[in-house]
Amino acid sequence: MEYGTQRMVMYPHLNAAGILFGGVTLSWIVEDAIIFATNMLETNKIAAVKMSEVSFQSAANIGDILLSGVELVRTGTTSITVKCELRNKTTDKVLVQVDEIIIVALDFNKQPTKHKFAK
Ligand SMILES: CC(C)(COP(=O)(O)OP(=O)(O)OC[C@H]1O[C@@H](n2cnc3c(N)ncnc32)[C@H](O)[C@@H]1OP(=O)(O)O)[C@@H](O)C(=O)NCCC(=O)NCCS
Repeated sequence: MEYGTQRMVMYPHLNAAGILFGGVTLSWIVEDAIIFATNMLETNKIAAVKMSEVSFQSAANIGDILLSGVELVRTGTTSITVKCELRNKTTDKVLVQVDEIIIVALDFNKQPTKHKFAK
């Protein structure tokens, strides 16, 4: 897995219980998957089309440092599938893992198009 972005949990990221909000966590996961796919496919004309089940395994608190990782699972014709993980460096626990995020390469009409790894 390729670990890259680090983030610190700040007040705007919290829910009413005072821990990291799941919606923020998901937006970070999808952003990191999209950046990975943009670098790999050498285009930013892409869209996430499907995510597998998400389970939030541990909480993050204000000031915690998070580290995200992305890995290629498979390449299709117009799509790639990636796996993502967000780890809490402060507690050394996994926050969330998403086994599959499917991302599709798009043409200028926003329709699926073959990417550079299509056979
Ligand atoms: C992306 C989009 C153009 C794809 O259109 P589509 O008609 O589903 O495309 P296709 O059926 O030709 O599938 C394209 C690829 O995606 C894969 N795919 C599409 N839907 C899928 C699903 N629900 N599960 C798994 N794979 C899926 C197909 O297997 C195919 O992959 P391959 O070419 O590598 O074999 C369309 O679904 C869309 O615009 N969705 C909204 C995307 C979006 O707005 N994302 C941002 C998040 S809100």
